[in-house]
Amino acid sequence: MRTQVAIIGGGPSGLLLAQLLHTRGIESVVLERKTKDYVLSRIRAGVLERGMLQLMDEAGCSDRMRAENYSHDGTYISYGEESFRIDFVVLTGHPVMVYGQTEVTRDLYDAREKTGGPIEFNVDDVVINGADGDTPYITYTVDGQPRRIDCDFVAGCDGFHGVSRQTIPLSVRREYEKVYPFGWLGILSETPPVNHELVYSNSNRGFALCSMRNEQLSRHYIQCSLSDSPDDWTDAAFWEELKRRIPTKFADALVTGPSVEKSIAPLRSFVTEPMRWGRLFLCGDAAHIVPPTGAKGLNTAASDVQYLYNGLRQFYESGSSEGIDGYSAKALLRVWKTERFSWWFSSLLHRYPDQSEFDIRIQVAELEFLRSNEAAQRAMAENYVGLPY
Ligand code: APR
Ligand code: PHB
Repeated sequence: MRTQVAIIGGGPSGLLLAQLLHTRGIESVVLERKTKDYVLSRIRAGVLERGMLQLMDEAGCSDRMRAENYSHDGTYISYGEESFRIDFVVLTGHPVMVYGQTEVTRDLYDAREKTGGPIEFNVDDVVINGADGDTPYITYTVDGQPRRIDCDFVAGCDGFHGVSRQTIPLSVRREYEKVYPFGWLGILSETPPVNHELVYSNSNRGFALCSMRNEQLSRHYIQCSLSDSPDDWTDAAFWEELKRRIPTKFADALVTGPSVEKSIAPLRSFVTEPMRWGRLFLCGDAAHIVPPTGAKGLNTAASDVQYLYNGLRQFYESGSSEGIDGYSAKALLRVWKTERFSWWFSSLLHRYPDQSEFDIRIQVAELEFLRSNEAAQRAMAENYVGLPY
């Protein structure tokens, strides 16, 4: 088989890139290791920046999201019994959209199926060959049968555990990592949200977040130990702990119910440089990871996709390789700013095992400053709604 762009990974990065390329008549094949049902069973963050919304519009995949229009103009931050609101629209002119990543992925799959674009599921043994030359090709197996795709370019959209990043030789690749000494225990429940906007909470028992998917579906998180397992936490124990970590006015309004999903995610900051090697381009989690505080994972993947899509489009439409040549530097500039924000927002809200009384006072001082200083709030809001591409 031959295609223009071979896309490794059928998560949101790979699918969004495929649909954007399709709008310009650029052919691609998506190779996904798992089944569609498996990909759609993963629950991830649910706050979209305006840049991501515009890309979904451009890809023709935003009808359901726009119809639901669960737009949020601000967010709440609490510490102890104190809480304050940051108004994104007043400070930046832009809201964010609450829409689950699983739903984004579902809409992208529907669009891919409608346009008849090829996706191969259950692929194994993917190897990217000749990426440092002019004629790359991918070999892989499906049900033990060998297959091959020849292509012009390879987009490595296969997440943190994929093969694309590993294909870049160690002599070229540099990796930067920070691992956090705690995780997030998250539950999804068919209950109304505690508040009309998200509540991020710093408490002396650890971080908590009250989020949502819609008026009847809530997503809550509490900071937990990395040695915990979801089975250690009954629903009752989770709700009890959450209530102790949020101000009484929110705890009193909390409607509890059975969890429909419960999982623990570790927190990690990670960046690979460069994001391009010859004709291989890394996008999304294949190249970088952020801790979930601030919901930047999918949004940062989207900005990579936008730079790569425009670079490839320029190449196919005018023969210029300027866009693809500048891809890695341009993408990394924004990636590092988002890494900084996610790290800062995590540092502001969590309890660290080695934190001293001094460190905790500094955290409270920073929260007080954010509460009272409009310039600080604007800087936070600009990052939260999404830095420009
Ligand atoms: N071959 C083919 N597909 C692979 C391979 C492989 N060797 N390895 C991994 N994959 C697939 C995974 O099964 C997954 O479906 O690549 C996909 C990568 O998807 P994600 O991990 O979701 O990464 P990405 O598409 O970059 O999405 C960005 O935003 O909120 C964050 O971490 C969150 O998933 C998230 C992301
Ligand atoms: C979520 O709803 O899952 C969510 C929202 C905001 C975050 C992280 C996760 O910062």
